[in-house]
Amino acid sequence: MNVFGVDIGGSGIKGAPVDLERGDLAEPRHKVLTPHPATPDGVADCVREVVDHFAWSGPVGVTFPGVVTDGVTRTAANVDKGWVDLDAGALLGERIGLPVTVLNDADAAGVAEMTFGAGKDRKGTVFLLTFGTGIGSALFRDGVLVPNTELGHLELHGHDAEKHASTKAKEDEDLSWQHWAHRVQKYLAHVEMLFSPELFIIGGGVSRKADRFVPLIEDIRAEIVPAQLQNNAGIVGAAMAAPKTGTPGWSR
Ligand code: BGC
Repeated sequence: MNVFGVDIGGSGIKGAPVDLERGDLAEPRHKVLTPHPATPDGVADCVREVVDHFAWSGPVGVTFPGVVTDGVTRTAANVDKGWVDLDAGALLGERIGLPVTVLNDADAAGVAEMTFGAGKDRKGTVFLLTFGTGIGSALFRDGVLVPNTELGHLELHGHDAEKHASTKAKEDEDLSWQHWAHRVQKYLAHVEMLFSPELFIIGGGVSRKADRFVPLIEDIRAEIVPAQLQNNAGIVGAAMAAPKTGTPGWSR
């Protein structure tokens, strides 16, 4: 069965119908650039454009780069502050006229990886960390998600960790792979000190280039592997979370 997934990111809003049996895109994804500022209204129009591109008319799952509880977006580190405490499920559901579920982007990617990718059949404590505009985290214990962990905002050397170790920081400060890998290592060491996970799955667009930096990361006890669904994990996880039935508007 195909269900639609949309991934709202800091630079692009991407979506596609997803084959939920294979855990992969059923058609090539469509991407529009995230408007700046990324206001709720502007982003909702982009989500509609992505859904309309496929003339889609079924349930839709949408990821958001912030805390989401019961369809309400609670934080907005890298998007417009108008998202804070907004009923995003209602806004998006009305805008596209279809049943919608909204969830955190890293949680969505994590669920997809645990089901179809690098975390399949992995028990114990597993983290999926996405490196991009920010750092997203998804925590699993024996395959069960603890949502909205937000570990990108841990304090590292007196800074918000994602300001120091995201791929945006790498680009903004023009860091070498070696230099950036060192920062990622410090970050992973901190998460490891707190949670002692068995496995770190590295997601986000940079997972495509895992061979450039994962081998440079030393002194971490946990296994470190790149995400297998790479940058499509968010879209697949969004589709997995989409409401099974329902009327237009948000559905739990
Ligand atoms: C947000 C998280 C999000 C991550 C990746 C962080 O700034 O607080 O909710 O998962 O960026 O987009």
